[in-house]
Amino acid sequence: MKDWTGNKRSAHAMIGSSVGALGVRQEHDYYATDPNALTSLLRMKELPKVVYECACGAGHLAEVLVENGHSVVATDLVHRGYGVGGVDFLKVERLPEDCNCILTNPPYKFTMEFIEHSLELLPEGGEAIFLLNVNALSGKARYERFYKRGVLKEVFVFPRRVQCAKNGDFASQNGSAVNYAWFVFEKGFCGSTVLHWL
Ligand SMILES: C[S@@+](CC[C@H](N)C(=O)[O-])C[C@H]1O[C@@H](n2cnc3c(N)ncnc32)[C@H](O)[C@@H]1O
Repeated sequence: MKDWTGNKRSAHAMIGSSVGALGVRQEHDYYATDPNALTSLLRMKELPKVVYECACGAGHLAEVLVENGHSVVATDLVHRGYGVGGVDFLKVERLPEDCNCILTNPPYKFTMEFIEHSLELLPEGGEAIFLLNVNALSGKARYERFYKRGVLKEVFVFPRRVQCAKNGDFASQNGSAVNYAWFVFEKGFCGSTVLHWL
């Protein structure tokens, strides 16, 4: 059987994670990202062939990666018609084979946990690329947990607003009040952060 990665391996085998019927509610910070947000990043940054979208929602980011020739492993806590559902990223124990890049727009309330867990899973030099509120640059806890050790390698700031649609409903969106940026965390990096404008 062909899986969502485009190959014939079992998703469950690849991620070694807690896949199962979790009976979760539809309230896990589901905001679908305008795919153009990722297209803009890909114009400026080359990503590795294999990318893990660990909170894929309905695949708005994953599909951009596929269209750009990447092999994408896509999972989410909740099945939203794309990838494999029932996978709690925070319980994933290892990355998919040949993968050293995690990319997502994470659930807001678990942003720090997602960054931390990604850095645990990634090999040295591997990258976790997250779409976050620009405000995530500040905050004592984030500084203590991440920034002061230098793992934030690059930030790609949007000079315009990016649409993230609640429950994937772009039609009833009235613009966005949030300023977003792509944050690139590299395991083992301890240099200065470079700021780019998309
Ligand atoms: C902000 S939405 C982003 C969806 C998709 N990445 C996109 O950009 O369109 C966050 C997603 O995280 C998922 N999520 C919440 N907690 C999770 C967890 N512990 N593990 C994996 N996915 C989770 C939600 O179900 C939701 O689909």
